Amino acid sequence: MQPIDINAQREAFKALAHQHIKRQGLERLLTWLEQETDFFTAPSSTRFHLNTTGGLCLHSMNVFDTALRLWHNVIEPHGLATDDDRSGKPDPAATTKAQFRNITEEKIAVATLFHDLCKCNLYVQEEKWKKDENNRWMSYPGYGITDNLPLGHGEKSCMLITRFMGLYDDEYLAVRWHMGMFDIGENGSTSRMSFYRAMELSPLVTLVHASDYLTSQCFEPTIIY
Ligand SMILES: [Fe+2]
Ligand SMILES: [Fe+2]
Repeated sequence: MQPIDINAQREAFKALAHQHIKRQGLERLLTWLEQETDFFTAPSSTRFHLNTTGGLCLHSMNVFDTALRLWHNVIEPHGLATDDDRSGKPDPAATTKAQFRNITEEKIAVATLFHDLCKCNLYVQEEKWKKDENNRWMSYPGYGITDNLPLGHGEKSCMLITRFMGLYDDEYLAVRWHMGMFDIGENGSTSRMSFYRAMELSPLVTLVHASDYLTSQCFEPTIIY
């Protein structure tokens, strides 16, 4: 993978946000990201997808791109996202249709571009060690984690976004539960029931989780040092 052009990527991220999000507070959020966090230079993970400088910003844009393509090319063609109920009869799927119609490109942008703000100011560069092919220890540049606001993953992202910009309920749910089954308790726990209920309440929850997972597992490389 080629090194990421941080300046070009930062401007691309801001342009993408401005293009799709017309909401009060966006400018303050972007200014905070640029001036008080490492969002544009941080990796996306310590050991997994896009564990390299600029990885977090790139991952956020990738998840938006995946979500938008899934929405327009996979979900919308099924008709749930359009007003296609002309029968006049009681429709058991009416609630579902209403929930789908409620989703906009702006909501998809908000819930994807900012879903991992919890990773801002989280990763610290440090020297790591591994054995080389001759079984000798060698050091390499890696990342560790120091979380100074350990609120939880999706929870922290929600809190950080709403410091600057309001969220609709479905956006809250999508950002909070974007890790899906990877961030919930055992069967029968309140967190698991909340996740299931969140998916029932809005397809945005499933869309953002699926896009995040698909993107990180299938499109984004891990850098082996
Ligand atoms: Fe995440
Ligand atoms: Fe993510």
